[in-house]
Amino acid sequence: MLKKNIEENNKFIIGNYSRYPISIIRGEGSYVYDSNNKKYLDFVSGIAVNNLGHNNKGIKKAIIDQLDKLVHISNLFLIPSQIKLAKSLTSNLPRYKVFFCNSGTEANEAAFKLARKWGIFNNKKTIISVTGGFHGRTFGSLSATTPKKYKEGFYPLVPGFKTAKFNDIESIKSIIKKDKKILAVIIEPIQGEAGVKITDKKYLQDLFKICKKNKILLIADEVQVGIGRTGKLFGFENYDVRPDIITLAKALGGGIPCGAIIANPEISDFLTPGSHGTTMGGNPLAMASGLSMLNQIKKPSFLNTVSKKGKLFLNKLKNLASSDLIKEVRGKGLILAIEFYEQKKAKLFTNKCIKNGLLVLITEKYNVRILPPLNVKNNEIIESVKIMKFVLEQMNE
Ligand SMILES: Cc1ncc(COP(=O)(O)O)c(C=O)c1O
Repeated sequence: MLKKNIEENNKFIIGNYSRYPISIIRGEGSYVYDSNNKKYLDFVSGIAVNNLGHNNKGIKKAIIDQLDKLVHISNLFLIPSQIKLAKSLTSNLPRYKVFFCNSGTEANEAAFKLARKWGIFNNKKTIISVTGGFHGRTFGSLSATTPKKYKEGFYPLVPGFKTAKFNDIESIKSIIKKDKKILAVIIEPIQGEAGVKITDKKYLQDLFKICKKNKILLIADEVQVGIGRTGKLFGFENYDVRPDIITLAKALGGGIPCGAIIANPEISDFLTPGSHGTTMGGNPLAMASGLSMLNQIKKPSFLNTVSKKGKLFLNKLKNLASSDLIKEVRGKGLILAIEFYEQKKAKLFTNKCIKNGLLVLITEKYNVRILPPLNVKNNEIIESVKIMKFVLEQMNE
């Protein structure tokens, strides 16, 4: 069956992914099972989507209840569950407003379009992103994405994007000094795709002040770290700054495709009727599922456990870092990485972990990214570290 799946996948599915020859067919909590009923600890979480693990009771009930009522209707009508989710997302962001879409790249496109609309009146056009930044695959978001590997073969991209150096405030300052048309800066509080690179606190706070002083919009791309991943609802809350636009997706829909922007009241109304839209974005199914996700994650007591588990996990990983193969381990909350000295060792480690029943994710060559569900149990963290230790010992032999 697996052999047939591989053959037919190659025959019918466009080959833009190199897939593991594993067919996962069901999941429960932090575990998934493949077509041979082999059990894996899933510390990929659908790349930071399944923040409450698999088969979460609340999300399942919300989806089933909604299926009985209405799946899709269109944004031509009022959608009460959109209002509820927007209210909940903005409970600590007074007067901010929300636009719902379907994915992270779409959220960033919406953020750039809103920024440009606002910028017309200030004659501002240019958007700055930083080295290593990943913002999505559609043309606008790809233009903000800085690593060349994502862009090769797709030029020409959208004009009006510039790159500053990550965590280097002088680099941004010098661009702003030369270009009086800077409209916005987009930044990930933690760069996920770049290998879990954490934005410095002082850097982001200085950037926030510079943006305020120069009337430049600060866009926080929270697609990967939003919805509780760092132990706060939004990653930027670790920095005591308030972005003008926050972009979300991945975990927001509880596994149903969903993205959003949350925008500052001074700019949100620049997206006037007809200026932007989406057919599917914010549909009742995604909203029902998203509401259940958010209600469970938003509780301070839950977010505290994410921070605690993150600390436990990082400490356990630090014990592994005595291995000669590992350069560094780092993380914040439950987004963590092991950085290897050699790319091929990172690959080998990932493959061996998977073989031994632990799903982790290679990212940006040298880094193994670890994204457990946020309700992971302490004993599951310990189990994963045992597997990693075993794999490292094998690799050292
Ligand atoms: C920070 C960030 N922004 C945007 C995106 C794009 O999201 P999507 O794949 O939903 O379009 C991603 C996806 O990995 C991401 O990590």
